Amino acid sequence: MRGVVCEGERLGLRDVTEADVAALHAVYGDPAATQHAPFEPRSRQEVARLVEEAMEAAAAEPRRLYVLAVIDAARRDVIGVARLRIEPDLPHSAEIGFGLHRDQWGRGIGTDLVRLLLSFGFKQLGLHRIWGARSPANLPAQLAMLTAGMVEEGRIRHHLHTPHGWRDSIVHSALEDEWTER
Ligand SMILES: CC(C)(COP(=O)(O)OP(=O)(O)OC[C@H]1O[C@@H](n2cnc3c(N)ncnc32)[C@H](O)[C@@H]1OP(=O)(O)O)[C@@H](O)C(=O)NCCC(=O)NCCS
Repeated sequence: MRGVVCEGERLGLRDVTEADVAALHAVYGDPAATQHAPFEPRSRQEVARLVEEAMEAAAAEPRRLYVLAVIDAARRDVIGVARLRIEPDLPHSAEIGFGLHRDQWGRGIGTDLVRLLLSFGFKQLGLHRIWGARSPANLPAQLAMLTAGMVEEGRIRHHLHTPHGWRDSIVHSALEDEWTER
C-alpha cells in the first residue's frame, strides 16, 4: 500500500516525510521515551537517516515497512510515530512499535494508537496476526496493548541487546479472527 491514510476519532496515521524529522526526533531523541528501547536516544541526524530509509521502504515492492506519523486529528500536528513491519516470509504477520511525545502521555492516546494500528493492519493491509514486544518493565505499553485487545503471549528471553545489557521481551498479539474494533 502507498500513501497511507488512516483516520481515527482522535488520531490519524500517514507516511512520514522529511518534514517530520523534528517531530520524530522528539520521540526517538528523548531519553524518557527511549528508556525501554534497545538503543540510546537518537541524534537528529540519525532520525533524518531513519526517515530517509522509511521513505525508501515505502516505495519497495512488495512493501514491508510502514513508518507512520501519528497525527492529532483536531490540530493536525505530529504527536508520535508508529511502525508496522511485515515479517520476511510471513506476509500475514506484522510487528508493531509506537511512541508518543512525552507531553501526550497518560490521556489514553497510546491505547487509541494501538487500536488504530490494529484497525489499519487488519482492515487496510489484510493481515492475520499483529504482535508487539515490550520491555517487562514498560507498564504503560503493557496496559495500552491489553486494553486495545492484544493478549500477552509469553516471554522471549534475552530478546534484545540494549545499552544496559540483554533484555527480555513480553510479546502481545492480536489475531484478525478474534479482533473486534473497540
Ligand atoms: C507506551 C505509550 C505509547 C503509552 O501512551 P499513553 O498515551 O501514555 O497511554 P495511555 O494513556 O493510553 O495509557 C495506557 C495505560 O497505561 C497507564 N499509564 C500511563 N502512564 C503510566 C505510568 N507512567 N505509570 C503507570 N501507568 C501508566 C494508563 O493509566 C493506562 O491504563 P488503563 O488502560 O488502565 O487506564 C507512551 O508511554 C510512550 O510513548 N512511551 C515511550 C515509547 C514506548 O515505550 N513505546 C512502547 C514500546 S512497546
